[in-house]
This record gives sequence, C-alpha cells and structure tokens, in this order.
Amino acid sequence: MRTLDDLDVKGRRVLVRADLNVPLDGETITDDGRIRASVPTIRTLAERGAKVVVCAHLGRPKGKADPKYSLGPVARRLGELLGQEVAFATDVVGDSAHGTVETLQGGEVALLENLRYEPGEESKDDAERAAFAEKLAGLAELYVGDGFGAVHRKHASVYDVPKLLPHAAGGLVVAEVEVLKKLTESPERPYVVVLGGAKVSDKLGVIANLLAKVDRLLIGGGMAYTFLKAQGYEVGKSLLQEDQLDQVRGFLNTAAERGVELVLPEDVLAAVTFGPDAEHDVVAATEIPADREGLDIGPRTRELFAAKLADARTVFWNGPMGVFEFDAFSGGTRAVAEALIARSSEGGFTVVGGGDSAAAVRKLELPEDGFSHISTGGGASLEYLEGKALPGLVALED
Ligand code: 3PG
Ligand code: MG
Repeated sequence: MRTLDDLDVKGRRVLVRADLNVPLDGETITDDGRIRASVPTIRTLAERGAKVVVCAHLGRPKGKADPKYSLGPVARRLGELLGQEVAFATDVVGDSAHGTVETLQGGEVALLENLRYEPGEESKDDAERAAFAEKLAGLAELYVGDGFGAVHRKHASVYDVPKLLPHAAGGLVVAEVEVLKKLTESPERPYVVVLGGAKVSDKLGVIANLLAKVDRLLIGGGMAYTFLKAQGYEVGKSLLQEDQLDQVRGFLNTAAERGVELVLPEDVLAAVTFGPDAEHDVVAATEIPADREGLDIGPRTRELFAAKLADARTVFWNGPMGVFEFDAFSGGTRAVAEALIARSSEGGFTVVGGGDSAAAVRKLELPEDGFSHISTGGGASLEYLEGKALPGLVALED
C-alpha cells in the first residue's frame, strides 16, 4: 500500500476520505474520537502544502440532504483541533463544493457536506456509483484513503474514487491495518477475545473465524443470553435471538472440539425493567427469573473474566458487557476495560475494537492510552478479523 510519503502533494488538490461519523446530540458532538483520529493525516498534508479537501459521511441520510446529518458541526470541531480554519462546502459536488475547492490555497483545508446526501455514494448499481465517483474525483488531483471506519463499505468515495486518481493510504488506515495484521498473523499467546454487544447475529462471521485462532473467547453483553439459552437455560426477558440458537450450539460444539475455552457469564444483574434506575439483583446466569432481564454481567463474572484475561499476551475486545450508558449497569464493561489496561501495563497487546466499546472507554473516563490501540472502526475491524476482503483496502492496494 502506498503511503503519504509516496505522494508529491505540494500545491495540489488532495481528496481525503475520512471517517468523521461521530455521535451528535442536536449539534453537539458527544464523542469526537474519530475527528481527533483523523487530524494527523490532514495536518501532515496541509503542512506539506496540499490543498486538502476532506470528504466524509455522517449517519444514514439515505441519499438526500437532511440538516440533521449535516457535517457543519464537524467542520467547526475539526477546525478547532487543527488550529486552523476549515472551509465548509454546503453541498458535496455542487457549486459550493467547486467554489470552495477553487479558492483553496496550499496548506488550507476544506470539508465537503455529507457524502450520503448523494444517492450515488452508497448505490448498489456500479454505474450510478461510478458516475458519482467521477464528479467527486473531479474536485481533486490526488486521493488519500484514511476513513478506516468505512473501509468495509463498497461506496463511491471509498471504493470507486481511488480507481480514478493516484492514491495512497493515510496514516490512520496504515496504523489500523498494522494492528489487525498483528492480531491475524502472529498473535502472541494466550490470545483472548472478549465479545459483547446486543446481537450475536452481527458477530457470526467473526466468531466462526476466531474459533480457529484464539485460545479463549469470553462472551458477555446482550449476545450472551442466546448462548445461555443454547445451553438449555432460561433467560427471562433478556435479549434473545431465537433464530440464532442452532448457530450458537454449533459454536459451542466447535469450541469444545478445538479446545477453545468459551467462557460465559456465571451471574448477571437481573432488572425488573429496562432503565437507568431499574430495580435489580445479582442472580446466577442459570437462574434468571422469568420476569427479569439481564442488563450487565455480575460481580463473579467480572472476576472470572479478569482471571481469564490475567495471563493474556494479546487481547481483542469488541462490544460492551452490559448497558454501560446507565451507570448502574456499566460495572461489567468497566471491569473488562480495566482488565485490558492491566494487561497493557504488563506488556500485553490490547486492542479495543471500535464502536460501542471505544465509546464506553471514553464515557467511563478510562485512560485512552491505557490500551495498545483503540480502533476507529467497529464493523471494519470485525470484518477484517472475519477474513473478508474490505473494499476500501482492496482499492488502496491497487
Ligand atoms: C460506522 O460508524 O460504523 C462507520 O462510520 C460506517 O458507517 P455505517 O455503519 O453507517 O456504514
Ligand atoms: Mg456501522
């Protein structure tokens, strides 16, 4: 993969595909992690005298302009972090974009409006995507792919534009891929993976693949209840994907055959309702009352998971252990994060796999530098570990 050092950018218009898809509360950015992660590449290009044209998506506006998903607030935050003005185009490839790009001087930065306002960006129709890619590529002379969180999407800005312009991978993509390669090709053992989050159906591919690679797989969060049910236990009103029970039984068998330790919760916080102040008790995972729902792993499980992580040399963690957004049910997620931090401090290689787990680290005010790496891409890292070819990386390889 070519990198920034392979491009001569001085005085040239460089289109940078970044992932600036941050959570917003109205116009307030509630977690700017992805913007911060995008700054180094943009700054490097500006320092080298490029006219930097950043493009990105926010949310899922489905091919039409919707002010709710405007990148305006992101342009302001990016400017603060860069310490220089970011010119904001109010469309993607229209008059505003062209006008903004034309007036850019070397060292200056512009951000285009949300790529997903344009139906061509996400179109499944190759010709429609290619037509939009032509317009986008027409704004620049060079392309830098740095939106790691979106490299698993076969979208015009990710997959088609690099075919039209000389291109390179940005520093963030290079760093993310290096970490994933290390996990895939040569993990120091024991290699332990912790998976959580609501749905097991989102993680089928990655579980199937990891069962051939890891020494231990710890399962918490909403998806654990489908595993408990597959073992024959009742899970009350907890999250359950009935249609995945056969799959999950298959995983339990495969793990047993291969000698992979698959570790499930032993106790849970069982709540009478779903809410921040829900009344709850610690119950055995095998005895969840019919009218209760599990909202976090319990204290015994936290200790068990910490013990199963205690000798790990490599850890990948994706997905919260409970409803960490509610303080009362954030303890399990915190315990796992703290176990990773402990491993890092003793020389272990610890990776937080993006998405909600990365958000949890920041929400729980845990030190970001306590981990070897916090990915900016949840879906993208999972698909990489699943062994899939990621369109955005394929395009950059050529
Ligand atoms: C993400 O947040 O997962 C990435 O920015 C990609 O967005 P998407 O899941 O809406 O394609
Ligand atoms: Mg996603």
